[in-house]
Amino acid sequence: MISQSHLKSLREEIRQHNYRYHVLDAPIISDGEYDRLLHELKAIEAEHPEWITPDSPSQRAGAPPADKFDKVQHPGPILSLANAFGAEDTRAWFERIKKMNSRVSEATFTVEPKLDGLTVVLHYRDGIFVQGATRGDGEIGEDITANLKTIKAIPLRIPIERREKREESSQPSLFAQDQSLLSNPLIPNYLVVRGEVFITHADFSALNKRQEEAGEKTYLNPRNTAAGALRQLDSRVTATRPLTLFIYQIVHAEGGEIPNSQWGRLEYLRELGFPVNTDSRHFDDLEEMIHFVEGWEETRDQLPYEADGIVIKIDDRALSESLGIVGKDPRGAIAYKFPSLEVTTTLTDIQVEVGRTGVLTPKAVLEPVEINGVIVRNATLHNFDFIAEKDIRIGDRVLVKRAGEVIPYIIASITEARPKQARPYTPPSACPACEQPVEHIEGEVAWYCVNAACPAQLIRNIQHFVSRTAMDIVGLGIKIVEQLVEEALVGDVADLYTLRKEDLLALEGFKDKKADNLLNAISASKDQTLARLLTGLGIRGVGESVAADLTNYFTDLDALRAATQEELENIEGIGPNIAAAIVDWFLLPFNQQILGKLRDAGLNPSNQLSVSNNQEAGVLDGLTFVITGTLPSMSRTEAKEFIQANGGKVTGSVSKKTNYLLAGEKAGSKLTKAESLGVKVIGEDELKGLLYS
Ligand code: IVH
Repeated sequence: MISQSHLKSLREEIRQHNYRYHVLDAPIISDGEYDRLLHELKAIEAEHPEWITPDSPSQRAGAPPADKFDKVQHPGPILSLANAFGAEDTRAWFERIKKMNSRVSEATFTVEPKLDGLTVVLHYRDGIFVQGATRGDGEIGEDITANLKTIKAIPLRIPIERREKREESSQPSLFAQDQSLLSNPLIPNYLVVRGEVFITHADFSALNKRQEEAGEKTYLNPRNTAAGALRQLDSRVTATRPLTLFIYQIVHAEGGEIPNSQWGRLEYLRELGFPVNTDSRHFDDLEEMIHFVEGWEETRDQLPYEADGIVIKIDDRALSESLGIVGKDPRGAIAYKFPSLEVTTTLTDIQVEVGRTGVLTPKAVLEPVEINGVIVRNATLHNFDFIAEKDIRIGDRVLVKRAGEVIPYIIASITEARPKQARPYTPPSACPACEQPVEHIEGEVAWYCVNAACPAQLIRNIQHFVSRTAMDIVGLGIKIVEQLVEEALVGDVADLYTLRKEDLLALEGFKDKKADNLLNAISASKDQTLARLLTGLGIRGVGESVAADLTNYFTDLDALRAATQEELENIEGIGPNIAAAIVDWFLLPFNQQILGKLRDAGLNPSNQLSVSNNQEAGVLDGLTFVITGTLPSMSRTEAKEFIQANGGKVTGSVSKKTNYLLAGEKAGSKLTKAESLGVKVIGEDELKGLLYS
């Protein structure tokens, strides 16, 4: 019999994991385990729909599409901020408000990164998230509750109860606890908070990488992507975008005891379980604060998200409010703006590059311009549709932006300044490298060069094959690769292994020693692992980590080649697209020929699925490891090689037979399984320690 108390503790458990992952950034279970808990919850709720509550973790996604957004009246005005440009402006602001209220001279400050995202307003009644809205005109916004519920950083109920680690289900019923939380006098029965929804640089890059690998349209920038996701009428679409948020303001509270200072409120919000930016600071002294803010301006690129400035707030709320409002800007706070990351320059040309898979990508050639200390000469134009939609023409003045890890990109053309002779841009009908006609697949944005012998693709392929995460052939830089292809010395990656010294000596810049070194490096790469060779082959979707996963199941390339689509799909982390790409790759005669040539050259790595294979004997003999997360100095491939070189075995999933889980940062995956099975968890240093102990 399923009891309601089991349901409650299951929900609480999911909430805890959700909070750990999305707010604290410190998960203790794998995604798979999280999904299983959620699945169990949904199964119970399917049987007992009458038990579903609006704050249940099952209620985050999948609301049926709406045909429009309803209007929401904000409980108070959602204000804006006046700007300050630099330290002088900030001092002038302080002088102005000091004259208005002498108590300001005693003021302290809270400073918060000014995230470049979208304002949202969240309503909680009796601790339950009941409504969320956009800013709108500051008085009335739009009801985007269903979309906001998909953002896992938003608590569906507050306060979130924080526990380091839950005991198993022996937990007493949480019902009594819930009651006491709700009757806690410190918690308002109606609370409205404001925050900023955004996408981190890392999540944005990963999102675009996924889109690119799937041959789909990439997103223009994090802010637009976040804005578009929030405005979706179908919240299932919103759920697929990596949105997160920080809360920074209490807009309205009924009941409860709200701290009097902004700093206190941030702490209070954090206590309730809201995600609050930990980069915020408190200062007693204006000059110290300015000094710090200036430092931040210098290092803004290192922030994991885009901030266009710092919000400086008089910490004492009553004092701040006593200063009043000018228009929509309260006097008690100011936005210290960083210099703009957007500049205008001239688009002198549009070059088309051919990628490894034959995709043509337009690249902007710019009159060099400085953005935040870096000279920008090129920028991405995304794809040909973008150029057409924005009517970007060679010769135009264009607006360019460079922020964080995102590659500089063109925002728009300034059509008012368009030279008369500028003509609309037409994408090439032939590949700029091999002059063969290009093809377009209906429904996709990309244009492809489908010529298997295209030299540009070949150059990229070889570059990838010799790169550090693949065959790691030192000394084979892009210039040499280009020479080798231009002189027709290599027609595929396998030809590297039949290069002769006299071939190299005939190339410009090659002397005896350089030729020997390169040949030695190429020859040494014959001993690289199966995982590296697989990575190097450049099969769509098979990067370093997928290659490593595959080698846990297949001993050599022949075994992989014999695998069916279905077998491949059964492997954790491999979906239908990658599985199909692998099968297709092995079917192409051109690739079969490469494999044959590689084998003839002596490359036929096999992987040790069991200790008895070609595993070296060493200190780690008989020990089985699983690797997860990001390690401080080694890549996962390097760690695996290190373990194997010392006699250990590396497998893909944690079981009772696993001796050690080697876990790095963000070890969401596999960590709890190890903990629950009592498998010892170690870090990189401890791994090395095993050898020398
Ligand atoms: S305070 C009266 N704090 O910056 C309070 N705003 O005009 C006004 N923003 O679009 C806002 N991070 O959405 C505040 N920590 C933060 C913020 C922040 C981002 C945005 C806000 C608004 C603009 C300020």
